[in-house]
Amino acid sequence: METRVIPFSDDAIGEAGRLILAGEPVAVATETVYGLAADATNARAVARIYEAKGRPAFNPLIVHVPDFDAAERLGLFSDEARALAERHWPGPLTLVVPLRQTAGIAPIVTAGLSSLGLRVPAHPAMQALLRAADRPLAAPSANASGSISPTRAEHVLKSLGGRIPLILDAGPTERGLESTIVAATNGALRLLRPGPIEVDAVHVSGEKIEAPGQLASHYAPSKPIRLNVSSATTEEYFIGFGAIEGDANLSRTGDLVEAASLLFDLLHRADASQKLGIAVAPVPNEGLGAAINDRLLRAAA
Ligand code: TXA
Ligand code: MG
Repeated sequence: METRVIPFSDDAIGEAGRLILAGEPVAVATETVYGLAADATNARAVARIYEAKGRPAFNPLIVHVPDFDAAERLGLFSDEARALAERHWPGPLTLVVPLRQTAGIAPIVTAGLSSLGLRVPAHPAMQALLRAADRPLAAPSANASGSISPTRAEHVLKSLGGRIPLILDAGPTERGLESTIVAATNGALRLLRPGPIEVDAVHVSGEKIEAPGQLASHYAPSKPIRLNVSSATTEEYFIGFGAIEGDANLSRTGDLVEAASLLFDLLHRADASQKLGIAVAPVPNEGLGAAINDRLLRAAA
């Protein structure tokens, strides 16, 4: 299959919308990472996402909708969940809520769970595609299973080229990290994945994997990674931070927002380099730094 890369435009959205309604998966920019979107009401279309990514087991997918009203038609929102949605949507927050029986979401999307991950993305390309297709869109990150998430169209092409028909190129993504995931399924809010939005919720840690995709090794480059180092060997591609210089720097000024937006791009570059290993300078574990370190730990696992 030939994979076309088309810049985001009205025509491109029209073409992408037609492909979605024909049951094809399309890669599209969101404000977090590029997603591989398919009609969430069409089981065969969603199965093509798993096929293209080579995801071994069915792992529930996030469903994207254009606004809160559309989200409420699919899931049941507690007062706490509604408050979070009002505060952060559209934006990089996914809420896992009980699935409405009447939602019409293909069971393959939720991997048979009675809950549903919902997100209202802020990015104009994903928003335009949602409105053109007029369907809820299931979309995991647009990378082959187990590899680094894509923050540029070229990352998607490298990972999934030949396996999908179309990539809607809207440049590098702004946030660079996948959405924060919060479960609001039985009373208390639980943080399933740290991300761009800081939420006051109980942190669900390691042992009990509540977001099945949150396996320890998930964002793995093909090379060994050492974290929290102040110098690298000549065999390593060194990703610096702040005053610690390297082959590249996440942010010379120590800005965590900039670091988050560049993280996956630098991991892609390190992976593609001639070097045999990757070393990463320490990133402070506060605020957005906690989400960055979460992804780095998984990359190193
Ligand atoms: O920023 C993002 O969230 C991006 C863009 C494309 O929206 N998407 C993304 O999808 O990161 P993915 O498939 O790579 O990660 C989705 C995570 C997985 O860890 C999955 O297990 C979890 O969400 N998840 C989805 N539905 C769930 C549910 N009903 N219960 C628990 N976890 C769920
Ligand atoms: Mg992913």
